[in-house]
Amino acid sequence: MTKKATPSADAPVLEVRGLHKKYHDLEVLKGVSFSAPRGKVVTFIGSSGSGKSTLLRCCNLLELSHAGDIFFQGEAVAWKGDGIRRQPASKAQVIAMRTNLSMVFQQFNLWSHMTVLDNVIEAPVTVLGHPREEMRTKGLHLLDKVGIADKADAWPSQLSGGQQQRAAIARALAMEPMAILFDEPTSALDPELEQEVVRVIKALAEEGRTMLLVTHDMRLARDLSDQVIFLHEGRIEEEGAPEILLEHPKSKRLQQFLSAGAVT
Ligand SMILES: Nc1ncnc2c1ncn2[C@@H]1O[C@H](COP(=O)(O)OP(=O)(O)O)[C@@H](O)[C@H]1O
Ligand SMILES: [Mg+2]
Repeated sequence: MTKKATPSADAPVLEVRGLHKKYHDLEVLKGVSFSAPRGKVVTFIGSSGSGKSTLLRCCNLLELSHAGDIFFQGEAVAWKGDGIRRQPASKAQVIAMRTNLSMVFQQFNLWSHMTVLDNVIEAPVTVLGHPREEMRTKGLHLLDKVGIADKADAWPSQLSGGQQQRAAIARALAMEPMAILFDEPTSALDPELEQEVVRVIKALAEEGRTMLLVTHDMRLARDLSDQVIFLHEGRIEEEGAPEILLEHPKSKRLQQFLSAGAVT
């Protein structure tokens, strides 16, 4: 059974300093630093290929990074080895971070052979060791919260994209994570289905949940974020409060990105 981490007073949920990541010869992250304070929403924008997904995946150790520090609730990730050979030194820390930094993916990634409710409760039961019956009640409550309680016994394939994504959000919430990491959660959806997912994400932000959000939807970025970070070719090109960054961009690259048809 995995013990959930207990919050350490004022430390940010996540802090990253000087993160570097390569795929073979391609340097995808070239020294990225940011901090996600408790209860805040930090949003990453940038062109396709700028490193946004890689950054999120490095943050919860789904991907290995090669240099730089990651702090989870003030505690540094311990590494063994250096550079491209470095690995997290503590399996317990990896599990704590993966379970506390829940991802929601663009393509939902629900398990097709499980009902919606089983998708939601599987990890809390098998990874955290919560009793299945207790989790069923909680899972139904979470499905109700995202507006699809009536789909509990359906298969993922019987749901619309918007409903599948809301199930994926309920699944992330079922872990009672310290933060949720959204990677383009609305990009695979038709506009009318997008809004039902946007409403759920906004409600979570209003509850004061800590979130990292990658999105192409500049309206969502503006409405939701405490801080917006513009990534360009693996570096932070510009960052700031959404109303300043999105309405008064300083760098040419951000100006170009924003005028090149990002949804506003
Ligand atoms: N598993 C991988 N192997 C090799 N290259 C990858 C892999 N994942 C991503 N990349 C490359 O890393 C760069 C950044 O990708 P990604 O983080 O997905 O960007 P974004 O999410 O901003 O579109 C791209 O050039 C992409 O092709
Ligand atoms: Mg991506």
